[in-house]
Amino acid sequence: MAIETSCDDTSIAVLKEDKILANVTANQEIHAKYGGVVPELASRNHEKNIVRVFNEAINQSGIDQSELDAIAFTQGPGLLGSLMVGVSFAKSLALGLNIPLIAVNHLQAHIAALYIENPNPTFPFICLLVSGGHTQIIWVKDFFSYEILGSTLDDAGGEAFDKIGKMLDLPYPAGPAIDRLAQKGDPERFKFTYSKVPDFNYSFSGFKTQVLYFLRDQEKLDANFKASNINDLCASIQHHICTYLLKPVAKLMKEREVLGLAVVGGVSANAELRIEMQKLALKNQIPFMVPDFQYCTDNAGMIAEVAKYKFEKEDFVTLDVVAKARF
Ligand code: KG4
Ligand code: ZN
Repeated sequence: MAIETSCDDTSIAVLKEDKILANVTANQEIHAKYGGVVPELASRNHEKNIVRVFNEAINQSGIDQSELDAIAFTQGPGLLGSLMVGVSFAKSLALGLNIPLIAVNHLQAHIAALYIENPNPTFPFICLLVSGGHTQIIWVKDFFSYEILGSTLDDAGGEAFDKIGKMLDLPYPAGPAIDRLAQKGDPERFKFTYSKVPDFNYSFSGFKTQVLYFLRDQEKLDANFKASNINDLCASIQHHICTYLLKPVAKLMKEREVLGLAVVGGVSANAELRIEMQKLALKNQIPFMVPDFQYCTDNAGMIAEVAKYKFEKEDFVTLDVVAKARF
């Protein structure tokens, strides 16, 4: 069994051999009205949800809890209070059932989400990890052997979607709404300049400020500007973020012998990003990998996938293990 509570989704999965029997997630709607995750509310809601999610995961999996062989949990990175709920729940289960405990790194799990459907990827591959808290370009040499080649210097890609979405009066998390509205809009209508950063890194804060000033200026001329242009705004903003995310990846592919391309993390659910990454892989005649939608945003299935490898190696932790907000 795997437990994920690093941010605002309470998720529990049950994995048997190679198959995920259940992957149950309770999303916390409460944060929408605040325009972002409120850490204290997130941990309290994990406490409220976790037993219900556990029962549902057990029911869906069709197994009895006495059949569980190990309990895995997200140790970090994430919100400390949220992580602590999952860690404590995992410890009590492991203690009560007298079975081993497995600690999992959340970012490692986002990458491992690829292996759920694709157990034999070609190494080395480049993995673009874009979530609400991280943006990294990772050189994946083997299942669990990596090198981080680039990261964001400020906001994460998902955070850019969410913060700009808030400016557009869209509820948190705005990424899925922007993705949906963008399908009806013109991605070339509004143009923004790309932030220049060295090597294979990113910066989203300049773009965020550009959009803020642009909207402020337009609203002086037309108070209804946002509402009447929402589809084109979403399409142009999404297009800018996706094009920008691809730039260093494309540059890197010219410099290294790459045998695969992948995108993971919450933003990998984005339609344009998936299509553009796939095109880049096709152009370079290498395989493209992306997790199934249910394993893109935070979920315990991907935690179970890492735990499967750790279980085989008997890589267990003791009951004095603690949550780590930063890894
Ligand atoms: O990986 P994730 O679920 O949580 C973190 O570990 O951060 O990523 C959440 C992020 C949010 O910023 C959300 O807006 C974004 O992923 N996201 C999307 C889409 N679905 C989720 N962004 C763009 N398009 C989507 N379809
Ligand atoms: Zn995540």
